[in-house]
Amino acid sequence: MGVKDNDENERVKMRADIDELYCLWKQRIEDRKPFQYIVGCEHWKDLVLSVQEGVLIPRPETELIVELVSDVLSKNDDLKRGVWADLGTGSGALAIGIGRILGNGGKVIASDLSPVAVAVAAYNVQRYCLQVRNSSMFYIPFVASFYRPRFLPE
Ligand SMILES: C[S@@+](CC[C@H](N)C(=O)[O-])C[C@H]1O[C@@H](n2cnc3c(N)ncnc32)[C@H](O)[C@@H]1O
Repeated sequence: MGVKDNDENERVKMRADIDELYCLWKQRIEDRKPFQYIVGCEHWKDLVLSVQEGVLIPRPETELIVELVSDVLSKNDDLKRGVWADLGTGSGALAIGIGRILGNGGKVIASDLSPVAVAVAAYNVQRYCLQVRNSSMFYIPFVASFYRPRFLPE
C-alpha cells in the first residue's frame, strides 16, 4: 500500500531499501547471478520453491516428468500405492510434484548428497506438507525411481 509524503504524493513502500536493491541488482548484472538466487525462489508448476546457490533451479522441462508420471498413475492404481524415489532431489521439485499426485496412498522418498539441497528440499517439502530423507543413493524396492540429470541429451 502506498504512503503519502508531506506534498501528498503517493509513494510505494518497499520491503528492501534502495541500497540493498542496488547491491542485489549489481549481483545480477555484474556477477550474472541468476535472478532466482537473488530473490530466493522459483515458480515451478503451481509451486513456489525456495532455492539458493548450490541447489539447481528447477527447470521448466522437468515439469514434463510430473505430467508423465501423472499419466502413468492415471492408468495404474497399484503404482499410486507404491514407493517412489526422487534420487538427487535438489530443491525437492519432483518429489513434491509427484507426492501431490500420489496423495495419501503412496510415498515419495527424496534423497540428495548435498546438505544444502537437503535443507532446501526439506523446507520446500514441509511447506507442501510432506517429509524428506537425507542420504546418498541407496537401495529400496521402489515401484519407480526418477533422476533428472543436469544435462539431458538432445
Ligand atoms: C541436476 S540436479 C537435479 C535436481 C532436481 N532433481 C531437479 O530436477 O531440479 C542433481 C542433484 O543430484 C544430487 N546428487 C548427485 N549425486 C548424488 C548421489 N550420489 N546421491 C544423492 N544425490 C546426488 C546433487 O546434489 C544435485 O542436487
